[in-house]
Formats: sequence, structure tokens, C-alpha cells
Amino acid sequence: MTTVNSVKLSSARFAQATDAFVEVFTASVDFDQRMAKQDIEGSIAHATMLGSCGILTELERDDIINGLTQIAEEITNGEFVWSIKQEDVHMNIEARLTDLIGIAGKKLHTGRSRNDQVATDIRLYLRNEIEHITEHLARLQIAILDLAEQHIDTIMPGFTHLQVAQPITFGHHMMAWFEMLCRDYERLQDCCKRINIMPLGAAALAGTSYPINRAMTAELLGFRRPSANSLDSVSDRDFAIEFTAAGSLIMMHLSRFSEELILWSSAQFDFIDIPDAFCTGSSIMPQKKNPDVPELVRGKSGRVTGHLMSLLMLMKSQPLAYNKDNQEDKEPLFDTADTLINCLRAYADMIPHITPKKENMYASAKRGFATATDLADYLVRKGMAFRDAHEIVGLAVRLGLESKRDLSEISLPELQQFSPLITRDVYDYLTLEGSVASRNHIGGTAPVMVRAAIQTARQKMAAV
Ligand code: ARG
Repeated sequence: MTTVNSVKLSSARFAQATDAFVEVFTASVDFDQRMAKQDIEGSIAHATMLGSCGILTELERDDIINGLTQIAEEITNGEFVWSIKQEDVHMNIEARLTDLIGIAGKKLHTGRSRNDQVATDIRLYLRNEIEHITEHLARLQIAILDLAEQHIDTIMPGFTHLQVAQPITFGHHMMAWFEMLCRDYERLQDCCKRINIMPLGAAALAGTSYPINRAMTAELLGFRRPSANSLDSVSDRDFAIEFTAAGSLIMMHLSRFSEELILWSSAQFDFIDIPDAFCTGSSIMPQKKNPDVPELVRGKSGRVTGHLMSLLMLMKSQPLAYNKDNQEDKEPLFDTADTLINCLRAYADMIPHITPKKENMYASAKRGFATATDLADYLVRKGMAFRDAHEIVGLAVRLGLESKRDLSEISLPELQQFSPLITRDVYDYLTLEGSVASRNHIGGTAPVMVRAAIQTARQKMAAV
């Protein structure tokens, strides 16, 4: 009888021991042990299927399931001893199973390869992470809706080129962030459909000669269906790239959101207060209160986009089917999931405590001639061509600048100098409130429309 040398994987074929550094260099157990739970879940389903197809005896199947259950407990309790000699999470668990139950442990790998095993583990892992990510994302969306609802009538300047453009409401501005996050949510759900396909049964690359039942394993693991091509199943990581791309978009949105919160909390804008619990002081300047959470989130967006680039580059030149290159997919993926969860969590916790400074936002909108377009539109409604109206309003703005007055503070006779079409009703349009209320179509900033948008959004959130 041949004895299995536990020192080296497939050691019978090798005349030499692995170089000590190569052993460390090629091992992944330090990081892929994070998928231990998924690895065990996949193995239990595989063994159950092998048992039901008569490939394992019922006793062997039960021994395997009991052994794996014990290993899961050892891991949870921190008693499991991980060894680099066993290279990765899969071999560590299999070796321990054989220690525990003997020969039946060595039968678990029947009709399977680490290639379909690892692809399955990552899919299970991502499916689970997406659940946590979307939980925090939804929490953030609700926080944004609550804040928007409190500020349906709160006027602030809207910007283009970071210059005051037209008045909007703070509620409307918040709802813009809500819409972006809605698309992020949908992207994750959509990507999950393609993650939720089962590679097991593809084995090393060509499938297996055992009479397996892939549909059964897929059902046991909650996958939508078994994958359609064995080569594709073990080699492509496009689903992971897609997840990281969806993650990069989330982080890009959070980064833009952060940029606004940072600007708005500065003394120069002074539009909002970020609570102390989400800021820190300076070690040297006693007066400082720094918006650390938004800054860190903005910074962290870079690493997720970096992970997207790594995974694309990792994949791009690989021939079919599995290559060891793919072992490099784990760390970027894990870090993407961790970063998303942490950033969304911090945001969902912080947003309910943001306090808009209404008076400051109002004064800022007033200072910037935000209703200039409204005056032009007023003249157009009275029969003037838009370009001529644009010109005339330019003159009125210049007068306002020179005399340090908002358009609504310029007297009627002064305005009439520019056009006889202007009458007293012009002030209904020159006020910030009038301007905002007039944009009362779908998607507009009028408080009545923002209220309706929030209502629709709440229904949408209740349905998820
Ligand atoms: N640790 C490997 C990975 O992460 C598992 C698959 C290894 N397969 C193999 N044939 N070397 O991809």
C-alpha cells in the first residue's frame, strides 16, 4: 500500500521536495482561509450529492458531513491549525478531514477539482458579501430619504462649474444622491444573477466521468443552475470583475458625495455641520475639526478602482482553462468587499446626523444671482427672444454686482430701464422661492415634485 505524503501535494510525481521559498510563495492559505465557511458549505453539498448518486456510501457521506461540521466549529472557535504546507484553504480542510475520519476524508475530492471548488467558493463568498453590502446601501438610501424629506423647502444654490447657477432645494440635491445609489443597488443585484451560477462538476476543466447530479448540488447550494461549459466555469472571473466594477461605481459616487460634504462643511461654504463623532481634531491646530470620514471614503475609492484594474489585467491574457494566476483574484476581491461594507456603513451611520445650515445656504443662493435665468425666462414669456433676454439680464446682473444687490432687491423702475416688458409681477420670479416652485415638472426641484419623488422612492425601498 502506498502511503500518502502529507508534506507535498501530488508528491508521488515529484522527485524533489518543494523549495522552501516556493512553498511560501505559492501558498494562499493566509488569505483564502476567509472562504473556509463557503468551502465547507460547498463540500457538504458535494458529498451529499455523491452519496445520493451512489458514488459514496451513506456511511462515507455521513462521516464526511460530520467531520466537516466539526471542522467548521474548530475554525469558528479559533482552534483550527492552518498550515502553509497544505497550500490553500481547500487542502487544509481536506487534510484535517482525513485526520479526523480517515479514508472517507480522501474520498471527498471524487469528481471534483480545486479548480471548480475555488470558483464555487468565490461565488458563494461574493453572494454573501453582496447581501451585506446591499443592507448598508439600503440603510444609507433610507437615511438620505429622511434627510431629503426634512428639507423639501430648504433652499440652497445649485452649482455648475462650482459657480452658483440656479436655486434648488436641499431635498432635491439629496434625491440626486438617492438616484445614483438606486442604480448602484440595481447593478449589484444584476451582477448577483451571474455570480449565482454553479461551477461544481466542471472538475479540473473537462467535467468528470462519475455519474454526478449537478442540478442537485446547485439546488443544495442555492445556485440558479449549474454552469453550461466546464472550461468557462473554472477559468473566467468576469463575475468578480463585474462585482468590482459595480463596487468602483459605488465608491466613485461616495467619493463625489464626500467631496461635497467636505466643501460644504468648510468655513468658506458653511452649509452643513458634520457631527463631532465623525470628525477628528488636529494634533497641532486646536481650532480644527476635520471631516475625516468623508475624506477617508474619498481616498478609499482609489483602492477599489485599483482592484478593478488588477482583476482586468489578471484575466486579460490567460489561455483557457484554469491557471494559477487566478489565485491572485482573492485579495483584491476581499478588499473590495471590505472597503464597500466599511464605507457604506460609515455613511449610513453619519448621514442621519448631518445638519444643513438653512440660513447660510439661502444667503449663498441670494448672493450668486441664482434667479438670472428666471428673469430671462420671464422676458421670453412676455414675447422677447431668449438671446435678447439673456443679454438684458446680463445688464441687470452687472447693475446688481456694482450696487451689491440681488436681482430681487433692484427696484422696478431700475429694472424697467432694461426692458419695458418688466412689470411688478417680476418679483414673483426673482425670489428664490418663486424660482424653485416654478420648476414643477417630473424631475424638477419644486418642493411639490421633490415630495412626490420621495414618496415614489419610499415605495421602491419598501419593495426591496
Ligand atoms: N488556491 C488556488 C486558487 O486560489 C486553488 C486552485 C488551485 N488549482 C490548481 N490546480 N493549482 O486558485
